[in-house]
Amino acid sequence: MGIILKLFLSCLMFMASVMGKRQLHIGRRLVDETWYDAHATFYGDMTGAATMKGACGYGDLFKQGYGLETTALSTALFNNGLTCGACFEIQCVDDPQWCIAGAGTVIVTATNFCPPNYSKPSGNWCNPPLKHFDLSMPMFTKIAQEQAGIIPVKYRRVLCSKKGGVQFQINGNPYSIMVLLYNVGGAGDVTGVKIKGSGTDWLPMSRNWGVNWQVGTKLTGQSLSFQVTVSDGKMVEFDDVVPSDWQFGQVFDGKQNF
Ligand SMILES: *[C@@H]1O[C@H](CO)[C@@H](O)[C@H](O)[C@H]1NC(C)=O
Repeated sequence: MGIILKLFLSCLMFMASVMGKRQLHIGRRLVDETWYDAHATFYGDMTGAATMKGACGYGDLFKQGYGLETTALSTALFNNGLTCGACFEIQCVDDPQWCIAGAGTVIVTATNFCPPNYSKPSGNWCNPPLKHFDLSMPMFTKIAQEQAGIIPVKYRRVLCSKKGGVQFQINGNPYSIMVLLYNVGGAGDVTGVKIKGSGTDWLPMSRNWGVNWQVGTKLTGQSLSFQVTVSDGKMVEFDDVVPSDWQFGQVFDGKQNF
């Protein structure tokens, strides 16, 4: 074996050991194949009405493609909103009384935050450092009996499978444009956004809250392009997906996805 090849292989092995088990890239599929321990509860009722809007900035989860397959995350998992849009596979474990036998797993997208409560004496499932999923009721009742209240679960990160393109909703005001990104596939959680007006260079946006990214540059009357990066490093460029006559509040289809 040539010395270059040996060096290359040992370098690869070093990188693999650094990455450890946390993120294995199998071809294009980001699979965090380790199952981690957490707990789960549910909020709202079977209609999912209580799960709409929320701390990621999404609106009507049915119109936006998430439906009832959603969860709120505790502080430890929410990462101040950076985890919004990530997908998790969850199974009920080690609770023969309340887990539904043979129920398998549910796959949910993180759309909300389960806030901690530091003044409550007990039942603080969403306080740090606990990893907790507050599922929609339809997701919870697929894997456990409703009366269980709280169940032990195992979870892992999976790729998000979304139909159609990434969607861009333009909010804000003429001097500070704020863009909500939703229906993001692949790794699902957005880590960087750049915007380009037809009369500007690429401008880095900063994350304001949830999946709302903003830039303080006047872009009215210009067509807009985006470069979106998700947590596995993949970047997709959406060229001229917003026509120059765009209005605040409108949603534009990126026509591509991760
Ligand atoms: C936190 O817990 C306390 C005590 O149970 C309760 O009175 C309060 O309403 C809770 N706060 C929130 C924001 O839920």
